[in-house]
Amino acid sequence: MRVIVSEEKLKRRVEELGEEISADFRGKDPIIVSILRGGFIFTSDLVRLLDFPHEIDFVSVSSYGDGTSSSGVVRLLKDLNTNVRGRHLLLIDDIIDTGLTIDYLAKDLSLRSPASLTIVALLEKQIKRKFDLPTKYVGFRIPDTFVVGYGLDFNEKYRHLPFIAELDGIEAKGTGGNKGVESS
Ligand code: IMP
Ligand code: MG
Repeated sequence: MRVIVSEEKLKRRVEELGEEISADFRGKDPIIVSILRGGFIFTSDLVRLLDFPHEIDFVSVSSYGDGTSSSGVVRLLKDLNTNVRGRHLLLIDDIIDTGLTIDYLAKDLSLRSPASLTIVALLEKQIKRKFDLPTKYVGFRIPDTFVVGYGLDFNEKYRHLPFIAELDGIEAKGTGGNKGVESS
């Protein structure tokens, strides 16, 4: 296992994002929409740094693939509890890979007429994406490699690690990551 973003670097960057988002969204009473399960640690650290009133809700999705690539089918496993019409939304994900998941969710949420929808991702892979929505806030841009920790899993393991690491012998394309039948 090779650490690519240390605990210290994560902490500093999440603090910066918290300050930026606070400056931009203070007074807007937004709803933080966190994508389970990968986004749970990032979300919980980030919201504790937001110095303004906001609400938090969760969605859960699964992406089905053939093991090596995403099939382009995303399914909503758990919907929001909140009515988001007329509200400012901050959609929080752990990592954007092909962009399929975030694209699906952004389209789904947009149909519910929010006042605005802004994407926040802790990590963004530097790959040529099929789905290319603008990500307003990005923690780190990383190479196209399979990573775990700080919420991200490989076969549901490693989510608890306080840093982001690359697993030895695992290639993003070769394993298909967790884009099988598991949820994000
Ligand atoms: P996308 O739909 O291809 O953008 O993939 C997004 C989802 O796939 C993320 O929310 C993660 O759950 C998962 N994923 C993509 N890359 C990785 C990785 O390197 N490690 C762990 N999970 C990943
Ligand atoms: Mg995820």
